[in-house]
Amino acid sequence: MSKTLVEKINDLMPPWKQTEPTLWYPTMPAQSMGEWQAYLEFIDAYFRNRGIKKPMIVEIGIGYGKQRRFYEEILGYDYIGIDVRAGRSKSTVRTSDPALSRPDIIGNSRSPETLKKLMKKLDGRPVNLVYLDGEHTYEALRQDFRIYAPLAKNIIAIHDVTLKVLQSKTGRFWKELMVNAAKRKAQDRTYITLTGYYTIKYDHKHSFGQGTGLILKEDMSR
Ligand SMILES: C[S@@+](CC[C@H](N)C(=O)[O-])C[C@H]1O[C@@H](n2cnc3c(N)ncnc32)[C@H](O)[C@@H]1O
Repeated sequence: MSKTLVEKINDLMPPWKQTEPTLWYPTMPAQSMGEWQAYLEFIDAYFRNRGIKKPMIVEIGIGYGKQRRFYEEILGYDYIGIDVRAGRSKSTVRTSDPALSRPDIIGNSRSPETLKKLMKKLDGRPVNLVYLDGEHTYEALRQDFRIYAPLAKNIIAIHDVTLKVLQSKTGRFWKELMVNAAKRKAQDRTYITLTGYYTIKYDHKHSFGQGTGLILKEDMSR
């Protein structure tokens, strides 16, 4: 019997013990496990229901490259990862495979050169989902959003929108987007916040949550 999507996702996740494994576990996603699983199940359903067979995903800020395998191996999607760092040379506690941390495009996400390289790689192909997870300041995210959100045909995802302990700068941007959307007359986009909380102790006192903000570009007014 073939495996379900959730089983396949769990095969790439670290094993659950009594609490969720730490962020530094080699196969642990940078998201909390529930948040990441819900995100993958959601986008799988979204693209399948719309007959989009091989969506193109662009991730800004790939870190240790933990997302790539989920898209390529499990969902069969196409993927382009962009990062200012050329990758991590050694296997560390944070990654089992340093090759995964090599971005397809090395460059500052806000540099016009990087965008040019992306457009060349895409060669006219539309991007279905843009995942923004690069520099985590309000201004950097605002600029990444301005540059890359228009490229996304279907979904814009933003990570770390509900940081509790760090009083998220990215969260402020996310809230502003939702407030502005609520003010607009045409409800042409849907906003979903997938909140994820780590059960590990971030500063040895509190657990912390990051969360993924999803924007579905759909014209509901038609
Ligand atoms: C939180 S990590 C990304 C985690 C990754 N998205 C994941 O889900 O596993 C942030 C990454 O953004 C990259 N970054 C920071 N500033 C950047 C910039 N201006 N342009 C491109 N990448 C940047 C960092 O090098 C780092 O790898």
